[in-house]
Amino acid sequence: MNRRPGQSAAPFSTRAHGPSNRHEVNPYRHDHERFGKEIIAAEQAPSRRGGWHTEFGRDAPRHLELGVGNGSWLADSASRAPDRDWIGLEIRYKRCVQAAEKVRAAGASNARVVRYSWFEVEQLFAPGELAGIHVNHPDPWSHPSDAKHRLITPGFLEGAAHLVAPGGELRLKTDFDGHQLALVGAVAISTSWSLLGTSNDIRGAGAPWPDDIVTGYQAKFGKEGLPVFGAWLRRV
Ligand SMILES: C[S@@+](CC[C@H](N)C(=O)[O-])C[C@H]1O[C@@H](n2cnc3c(N)ncnc32)[C@H](O)[C@@H]1O
Repeated sequence: MNRRPGQSAAPFSTRAHGPSNRHEVNPYRHDHERFGKEIIAAEQAPSRRGGWHTEFGRDAPRHLELGVGNGSWLADSASRAPDRDWIGLEIRYKRCVQAAEKVRAAGASNARVVRYSWFEVEQLFAPGELAGIHVNHPDPWSHPSDAKHRLITPGFLEGAAHLVAPGGELRLKTDFDGHQLALVGAVAISTSWSLLGTSNDIRGAGAPWPDDIVTGYQAKFGKEGLPVFGAWLRRV
């Protein structure tokens, strides 16, 4: 989804580890490969495309979080909604392991952590295979010269529309109002999504959706008294 200019044409699954000597310097690479069923490594992840019902042993609505961080939101969401299946994408080995530990501690057999790049998420899901996408505090890259690194670009929404079935949803929480504005601007000209609501201060005024689950970064910004912005979209 939303590949950056100059990005390699080879899929993430075949270039997932960078230079081979990185294996020695990152112990979490070893840990994530041996963790168990809660983590799916990049090399295996594309084989799940179109067959996530087999991974979970049932055909429940599937929700995807892009960039799980420490995994607290993923584990909480999976525990509170056992009738749904939850997949969390994360690129960093250490955070994959931390998130999987939380999923395991929560006893959430309906959640998996997948090590993959969110820019190539279409390699993991067939069209319409998701009921929802949740983007919680994507890296801001707020300086205009860094805009090329952002996840939320005009093309993001149409990429997401291929993955989410009609009637599904997309939720964004962010500390960078530029992400919220970009998403709301893209919805205005999209024929695939409609805007259900926005918030410019989730902590003070509430989230656009019911029963908001606080993420690790959201808690951090809350402690600092900084606003968190939200946008809630429906796939039409
Ligand atoms: C600012 S943190 C937010 C973490 C969490 N969602 C939260 O709200 O606490 C952004 C996360 O996205 C991950 N990330 C950055 N680029 C990514 C990519 N291309 N694919 C998947 N995850 C990525 C980072 O490693 C980090 O864990």
